[in-house]
Amino acid sequence: MNYSEITKNKEVLQYYEVGTRILRKLGYTDHSPIHTKLVAERAATILKAFGYDEHTQELAKIAGFMHDIGNAINRKHHAEYGAIIANEILRDTDISMEDRIQIVSAIANHDESTGVAADPITAAIILADKTDVRRNRVVERKKSNFDIHDRVNYAVTSGELYCSDKDDVITLNILIDEEICTMYDYFEIFLTRMMMCSRAAEVLDAKFVLYVNGQKVL
Ligand SMILES: [Fe+2]
Ligand SMILES: [Fe+2]
Repeated sequence: MNYSEITKNKEVLQYYEVGTRILRKLGYTDHSPIHTKLVAERAATILKAFGYDEHTQELAKIAGFMHDIGNAINRKHHAEYGAIIANEILRDTDISMEDRIQIVSAIANHDESTGVAADPITAAIILADKTDVRRNRVVERKKSNFDIHDRVNYAVTSGELYCSDKDDVITLNILIDEEICTMYDYFEIFLTRMMMCSRAAEVLDAKFVLYVNGQKVL
């Protein structure tokens, strides 16, 4: 089983279809395969930048694609539920026991509620996931129905992640439209996630730096 195969796996895609339906009802931003593919590829890019081998990048891609699968069971504890589902799916494949447990552990630990980065793959998933802030993650169409999460995501007009192994820095550079959301709103939603990124970067022996509208804020 490789990354390309997992992105076409019928069972995985069905979990995302159901999860997307639930999150739409709850008014969440996009957690569909559009988001999880971005996380998979961004996690691999981070690991590549810091010299991790192709096998490690591949495991991060599989974990990245599967990381939000648990939303089909329940949003609360979706990381833990997702890990259990992924374990069941991957058990029937040619992935080794060691690799399967690594993938499952990264999925289980990606959420800021209880998760922790204790290895490079989990760290890369956390960094890739928490830095996916963008206008088109907002699913709600009517601006009058926007909640604070919608407003903060909608306000982000540009978000770029740069990794530099020369100075061991991972930089998130975002531009927000302060007419839509204030810096205060942004931090209310994202401070815990940005702190989680900081700790994840340490696992990669790097420093996480955040620029908002050209100002270094972390
Ligand atoms: Fe998640
Ligand atoms: Fe996610």
